[in-house]
Amino acid sequence: MKPIGPLMREHRLIERMLAALDEELKRINERDEANIELLTVAVDFFRIYADRTHHGKEEDILFRDLAKKKLAPEHNKIMNELVAEHVYARGAVSALVDAKNNYKEGNRESLKDIVKYVKELVGFYPVHIEKEDEHFFYPILEYLSKKEQDDMLVEFWEFDRMLIHEKYQKIVEELER
Ligand SMILES: [Fe+2]
Ligand SMILES: [Fe+2]
Repeated sequence: MKPIGPLMREHRLIERMLAALDEELKRINERDEANIELLTVAVDFFRIYADRTHHGKEEDILFRDLAKKKLAPEHNKIMNELVAEHVYARGAVSALVDAKNNYKEGNRESLKDIVKYVKELVGFYPVHIEKEDEHFFYPILEYLSKKEQDDMLVEFWEFDRMLIHEKYQKIVEELER
């Protein structure tokens, strides 16, 4: 398997979460209320899965190794855009967390912020994913030898393996505060 294999598979799960959020947008529109539990699950998904697990492997491993290569200007440009887009996604998720918390505390006005940031995520991710799947992942394989690709895949699995421990360690630490 190539190291872009797991990344592309993760894109497919992110797309399914986006579809669930799109459904939630329709329900908010119909009922004029948000499902806080669904949004809490979605936020956890974007933080732990899409950002820490998925962007984590992209930035901390794939982009790190590509930064050591002499990339063509167009690939370098896309890589910088992708990093900036990850920052944008983190911002939208944080804003959604704030809106959701305000809404939970009874501020009905926050419903429009929830809609705004969910729409931002639903609009943003497909474009970002397409950029990676269609314009970046295949061309950049050319910069990596077979051995580098194999080593990267091993490092990806190792990275994933530690995350379940990281997640629950943090949960316990939060409880101990
Ligand atoms: Fe990405
Ligand atoms: Fe990605």
